[in-house]
Amino acid sequence: MSHFSPRVFSGMQPTGNLHLGNYLGAMLNWIAMQETHECIYCVVDMHAITVWQDPKELRRAIVDVTAAYLACGLDPKKSIIFNQSQVAEHAELAWILNCVARMGWLNRMTQFKEKAGKDKEAASVGLFVYPTLMAADILGYHATHVPVGEDQKQHLELARDIAVKFNNDYAEAIAAAGINDGVFFPSPEPFITGPATRVMSLRDGTKKMSKSDPSDLSRLNLIDDADTIAKKIRKAKTDPEPLPTEKAGLKGRPEAENLTGIYAALAGESVEKVLGQYGGGQFSVFKNALADLAVAKLAPIGAEIKRMQHDDRAHVEKVLADGSARARAIAAPILRKTRELVGFVLS
Ligand code: TRP
Repeated sequence: MSHFSPRVFSGMQPTGNLHLGNYLGAMLNWIAMQETHECIYCVVDMHAITVWQDPKELRRAIVDVTAAYLACGLDPKKSIIFNQSQVAEHAELAWILNCVARMGWLNRMTQFKEKAGKDKEAASVGLFVYPTLMAADILGYHATHVPVGEDQKQHLELARDIAVKFNNDYAEAIAAAGINDGVFFPSPEPFITGPATRVMSLRDGTKKMSKSDPSDLSRLNLIDDADTIAKKIRKAKTDPEPLPTEKAGLKGRPEAENLTGIYAALAGESVEKVLGQYGGGQFSVFKNALADLAVAKLAPIGAEIKRMQHDDRAHVEKVLADGSARARAIAAPILRKTRELVGFVLS
């Protein structure tokens, strides 16, 4: 029997604007988990600087992403919302975990290879050890559940490997500390957000919706206003066929599949139901309905983000300050114990 109570931890980087992919892929899960779990949601500003960030932009992005969290429905009364750099325990634990993780493990991380590109020698050391900081984010709270996208699965497995190795390396100290089952760091469970919520580019149904796509028409940003949302849906790529009446008919039609998936996710309905209603009809009819739905769901979020950015920045800052204090209150005793186990505490 595990002696850990369920605790959710997840994070997003404060870079670029959040878009529909972040909302449907991550945020809706985060919001739902608030009702059933103790949740900690982090703005991972220390991860952001693994690639260069202009300080002015970074400051703005931290506020923007936090405002987006709040506008989407993360509730500081239910969850802890904070930015990583304000809780020094993340950095401290990351160092210890750097000494537990092996070069060989990190060398296998595919995201580093992608992000470093051809010139690995020019990548920051921080980018290489990004996954050990992520492990520290999670293990530093003894988090048990981590909702992440498919692309973070390998990092989560690494966090589990690090937890197990720490428990083994320090087994004697852990036993001496009276931790009966020998588990100081629990192995966090990934909550991979399924393919149903994989949101693709509006210009190319085979590519993920991404903040780095040069075409702004490819994504619905959470700060887009109603006219922009409607225009982007109108211009979204489609094929000449009418929508199928059955789900199987979406095979090989990535744009049709993406748009019906988006409709279903925004409406909280099944794809079958959406096709039952719009299948067989013209794409334009469906697109109008999708535009109306997307405007109804997203435009209020965008308006609320802008309101906070312009008129209520103090509220955003207060949420982060409170959240940091609450996060610290959880992480500090875990770090105190970690220091003891490692041998840093003399008496
Ligand atoms: N690496 C994650 C991403 O890019 C963000 C992240 C940082 C995270 N620390 C985390 C996610 C801890 C979950 C848990 O999506």
